[in-house]
Formats: sequence, structure tokens, C-alpha cells
Amino acid sequence: MSVLIKNGRIVTAVDDYHADIFINGSQVALIGKDLVMAADKQIDATGKLVIPGGIDPHTHLELPFGGTTTSDTFETGTRAAAYGGTTCIIDFAVQSRGTSTLKALDDWHAKAQGQTAIDYAFHMIVTDMPQERIGEMRSLADNGITSYKLFMAYPGALLSDDGTIFRAMRKAGEDGTLVCMHAENGIVIDELVKIALAERKVEPKYHALTRPTRLEAEGVHRALAIAEVARAPVYIVHLSCYDALHELRLAQARGVMAHAETCPQYLLLDVDRYEEPGFDGAKYVLTPPLREKWNHDELWGGLRAHALDVISTDHCPFCLKEQKELGRNDFSKIPNGGPGIESRMSLIYHYGVSKGHISLNRFVELTSTAPAKIFGLFPKKGTIAVGSDADIVIFDPAREETISAFNAHTHHMNIDYSAYEGFKVKGYTETVLSRGKVVIEKGEYVGRAGDGAFVKRGAYGGQYADTHANMARDVLAPRAALGSPGRRLS
Ligand code: URP
Ligand code: ZN
Ligand code: ZN
Repeated sequence: MSVLIKNGRIVTAVDDYHADIFINGSQVALIGKDLVMAADKQIDATGKLVIPGGIDPHTHLELPFGGTTTSDTFETGTRAAAYGGTTCIIDFAVQSRGTSTLKALDDWHAKAQGQTAIDYAFHMIVTDMPQERIGEMRSLADNGITSYKLFMAYPGALLSDDGTIFRAMRKAGEDGTLVCMHAENGIVIDELVKIALAERKVEPKYHALTRPTRLEAEGVHRALAIAEVARAPVYIVHLSCYDALHELRLAQARGVMAHAETCPQYLLLDVDRYEEPGFDGAKYVLTPPLREKWNHDELWGGLRAHALDVISTDHCPFCLKEQKELGRNDFSKIPNGGPGIESRMSLIYHYGVSKGHISLNRFVELTSTAPAKIFGLFPKKGTIAVGSDADIVIFDPAREETISAFNAHTHHMNIDYSAYEGFKVKGYTETVLSRGKVVIEKGEYVGRAGDGAFVKRGAYGGQYADTHANMARDVLAPRAALGSPGRRLS
């Protein structure tokens, strides 16, 4: 199958020009002016942006969590992603404590295989990693799983102690892989939760009040300090606030190899949402929680200044009626997470680019190119170039939509609410190609479950890749290169 995309404005992380794209099979074969080629299909992209498909490196489909399971399956979640202009996700497989991460990988392959509309990859959530099993991390990497997520939150369930975090980071440093950190001080949070419940403070807003920004900042600080000593790069997930961003910047200024993502909810929603009537505040019980509004500008600034590298969604959907309801009388039992896989591209285009917070190139970089580079997918994915996968979005900058769970154009996620209900956007995905196959055509899904394939990812390829390879070998070396003088143990 060949496709010719004519007359589009091609925008990548660095380019912006008008040209035609010829796709042969699954890859871009030729880019040029006024191409005249015989193709099985021709698409007129006049007046449209032609951008690399979005890459969402933080999703939770069919995740057992908080006594229930996220409401989007690999089928429904990836279809919704495609509608919104995302052509690749990196989802999280989860190791059960005391069991093999390789077994967990098999379980997640079984869930996803043959189900997805778009390509997918996995990170591995590591809950324990004793020294005698540390070799599994390399085996995972050999199977295309080149990043792991560890938690400083959720004691008794997902939390890893600092020794485990150090061991995992050190091994990742040596292997050329990457540890992602959920950075919040979960032990202190649990104490605050106990105090709140003892005082019968059970409403959703206490989720936010028991997770102050200082405890996220402490987690970020600790994660970065451990990474610095392990001489490994680290990726902070779902960074939500100024306090945490400040710690990130201090560490980056010391030379720590630190990446971080934020998400649309931390840029566009704020703590007032927990005051919505009745139990509606439960819609926004996600972790870290929504913060005070003034943090938004700080995060946009962090994105502009390249302190923050990526905008992911942390799509972790639970229906309000049947699932969030589990915590009606106790906020700590509300399953944590919210939906977003479908809305990210339009929200960030409209509220980021059109409102003047970030450039169009930076939009592409944050939503596609940077996650591809950091997570070992580039240049196969994350750009439009000869030889790259033809994961391409034709985006209509003039199309206006109101995001709503009741709008059949904007809501295909398997969830009974939208976190962005009523948000108006100008700029919407029109047509999507996934490895050369049209899966969304003029807003209609024309693909099928199983179009997507598992993608084996390569080594960490972020901006510190060379430094990383040189440094990781000797954790006892003096640290002058990192700006924090160390002392060699003798
Ligand atoms: O609330 C959230 N973020 N749920 C998903 C789990 C996580 O920590 O990413
Ligand atoms: Zn997390
Ligand atoms: Zn998450």
C-alpha cells in the first residue's frame, strides 16, 4: 500500500515547511515539493498541519489498581488515542512483589496482543528488585523494555525503599536503560491520611490536602540525589507543581541527568475542582493531585525552558459511577487516576501553542519527539523523515470542538466523564496514519483491533546518553564532573 500526502505544512520538532510525503508500505519513502507519483491513496492536506503522531509515554490500560481495574482496555484506550492523534503509547506492566518481572511482561503482552489500534510499548513497574534478581533488568531490556518505574508512594503496595531505588538506578545506569520515578513521600502522606480520616475528613478534597507539594518536592529531591550518586539518568513522572520543578532545576544545574514530564491536568486544571458539587470532586482524584492555579504558569515556563521534557497524559481512567464510588465515604479508597489519552494533542495545541506558551515546534517535541528520543524509539518514531515509520497526523488547525463526554467527536474513551468537560479547542486531529495505514479518516475510525504492534525499544537515547555511558561504570568515582565534589572511598 502506498499513500501520497499532498500540500501539507510539515512540522517536526525543528522543521516547518510545505511539501508532499510519499509513503511506501509502513515507512516514509520520499519528501519533496510537488511530488507526482502513482499511489494507492492520495490525501489532500491543504491548509492542514502534518505532524509526527503523538507518543504518549505514560498510560495505564487494563491496570488492576485501587481494588478495581482501569476502565479502558488496550482496544478502547488505543482507539481513543488514535482519534486524538496519538500513534504510540508506552503503557506500564506491573510486577507483583516477589515474582519475576519477566512473568509480568508475559501477562501484559497477553492483554495487549492483537487488541490495539496503534503501536505500543511497555515500561515495567518494579515493586522489588533484590540483588539476586537484578539480572532481570537486563533481560527486560533485551526484550525491548528499556525503562522501569519505581514508586516512592503507596506504601505496602508499590513503594520501593531507597536501597531498591539505588540498586535499580545503578543497574539501569550500567545497562543504558532508564528509571522513571513516582516521586512523593508516601510514608508521610499515609500519616496525613490517617489524621484526616481520624478527624472524619472523608471528602475527595482531602486527597489533595493530604498530598502537599512539599512532599512531592521531597520525593523529587531524593530521587535526583540517589540518581546523582548512582550516576544514572532519571525521569520524573507526572511532575505537578512549582516546588517539585524547583528541585528539578537545582539538580539539573548541578549536572544531574534529570528528565521530567508533566501532564495536561497539571497545566489546565486546579485544586478548585475538588469543590465541585456532591461527589464530583472524585473525578480529579489522581496522583499527584491538582495544585493551586498559579503553578500552571510555572510549569509552562519549565516546558519552555526545557527543564521539563515531555507532556504525557498518565491516562488512568476509572468511571465515576461504579469505580470512583468505592471511595464515597473515604477519599483514600477512591481509585487514583483520570482520563486524558484522547484529548492531549488538541488541549496542548490550543492552550499551549495558540495561547502563546510554547511554539509549534516545541509542541511536536513535547508530545512526540522528546518521548521518542528518551525512551529509545527515535528515529523510527517521533519525527517525519525518510525511513521513519509513517506515523503521521493530519491536524486541522481551524476545526473547533468542545471537549465533552457527550460529544461523539471528542469522547471515545471508555469512561463516563471527561476531566476537561466544556473545554473549547481550536485545532483537531483529522486523519491519522499508523505505520502507513490510515486508521482515522476525516474524524472516523477506519482501523481495526490488531493494527497496532508491540515495539521493542532501544537503549535510553536522551540528551545525556553519551555522558551516561561514560559515567555509569564507576559509582565511586569523584563527582567533580557532576558539580558536587565526591570523596573516593578507599
Ligand atoms: O493517579 C494516578 N496517577 N494513577 C496512576 C498511577 C500512577 O501513579 O501513575
Ligand atoms: Zn505515578
Ligand atoms: Zn501513572
